[in-house]
Amino acid sequence: MNQEQLNLLFGNGILIDAGIKNFEVPDMNKLIEKLKEKSITFLDTKTLYNLVYDKPSEGNSSIEVVKNYGGETSHSKPNDWINYFNDRFNRLRDILLKRVDANGVMSLEGIKNMPNGAEVKSIVMVAEVSISPVKHYQILEIEDNTSRYKAILSVVNDELLKDHVVMIKGKKYKDAIFVNDVVFPDVQIIDKDTLDIGDTYAVFLSDIHVGSKLFAATEFELFINWLNGGVDEYKSIAEKVKFLVVAGDLVDGVGVYPEQEKELEIKDVRSQYDALYQLLDRVPKHITILISQGNHDATHIAEPQPKLEPYFGESLYKLTNAVFLSNPYQVNLKIGDAKRKLLSYHGFSIMYYVNSIAKFNKMDDESILSIMKLQLRSRHLAPTHGSTQLVPLHRDFLVIDETPDIFASGHVHKAAASMYRGVVLVNASCWQYQTSYQKKYGVDPEVAKVPVVNLRDKSFQMLDFGGAKVQIFKKGIKT
Ligand SMILES: [Fe+2]
Ligand SMILES: [Fe+2]
Repeated sequence: MNQEQLNLLFGNGILIDAGIKNFEVPDMNKLIEKLKEKSITFLDTKTLYNLVYDKPSEGNSSIEVVKNYGGETSHSKPNDWINYFNDRFNRLRDILLKRVDANGVMSLEGIKNMPNGAEVKSIVMVAEVSISPVKHYQILEIEDNTSRYKAILSVVNDELLKDHVVMIKGKKYKDAIFVNDVVFPDVQIIDKDTLDIGDTYAVFLSDIHVGSKLFAATEFELFINWLNGGVDEYKSIAEKVKFLVVAGDLVDGVGVYPEQEKELEIKDVRSQYDALYQLLDRVPKHITILISQGNHDATHIAEPQPKLEPYFGESLYKLTNAVFLSNPYQVNLKIGDAKRKLLSYHGFSIMYYVNSIAKFNKMDDESILSIMKLQLRSRHLAPTHGSTQLVPLHRDFLVIDETPDIFASGHVHKAAASMYRGVVLVNASCWQYQTSYQKKYGVDPEVAKVPVVNLRDKSFQMLDFGGAKVQIFKKGIKT
């Protein structure tokens, strides 16, 4: 806004909030006309956005909830865990049986009675994994509903860990199965499909960490400004955004890591959510915001996590365009009658696989995407017990029942996107610069990168809000 425009406002008796000087107003006379119409004499950023930038929705977009944890609890007694693991095994076995040639699948009890040298196959849960010291064979303790047995792989499969449910094929010999093939439940391959709609975008955020002194405020301001059509670069995309997915760690929280208080700008969690509200309230109202929680948010850390409680996020509940969901959740993003299936998970279990599988130790884009693929192949968001904390419900909420079109995650503060079997994978970066805790563990965050997915044809790209201008972020995209 230049001095001439400011004078026009003052001349018409309108006072302003200092923040609005930074924004461009294409037609000041039109704005003054609207202000007079509504008898507004004080112009703040929120009013400016609503009057100048917000556009009415074109076409009807909506959300259809497929899977959302309602907050059921568990006493976490031994029996709860038995039921939980039985449910996980039975459902993953059923998924496998639909995908593979089920002919000849036997129970482990049945295999024990087979003669030596018989070709066998069975669907099992891996109970223990070890490597033989001499020949470096991978030795699995396996189990199903009937029995426990041993399986031996001559070539180590480093992605086959404890608690994975797989089908193994091989030869029975003495007290073990000598495995020649391991089949994961995996997602169905989705052929390239294009919806009969115009370009419509979903944009993905995660790990905003409002309340931290290291929150990338300037970068987030550029993002909000872009969404409102106030930035020239990629404006044609901004105009067609219908969904904003925020996959947890909305705020930095309180007492999450040692000495966090020294790095907190806002020291109580409700005020942190208030500050987030001030930002999200400026997202145009025709964009639906999907809000779920992460390990920094005001809830229990065990998964599934319920939606944000109004007690903490009171101000956010004033947003008329926000939907509050559990972590994880699955929804359909609907544009008219067309829809895309979205699975969102904050991503807490990813770090377990970074630390457990040597080739993923680098924690680069490739590793993060490979771990997300492993989750899809395992049809489970935390396949190994201990990779995240769990609420042992009667039904395992972390099983991936349905193959999604988009699998969104966060938590690792890295930006990456790829396609696996027709599923778009996005890991949605963060809005917080390196904390002292991250520095200690060598975590180097990629800040202010935003994956953008076109729901029409599932094409995707990553925008970078880290500079003065919005640019395409080349790194972190695997096509
Ligand atoms: Fe985070
Ligand atoms: Fe997190």
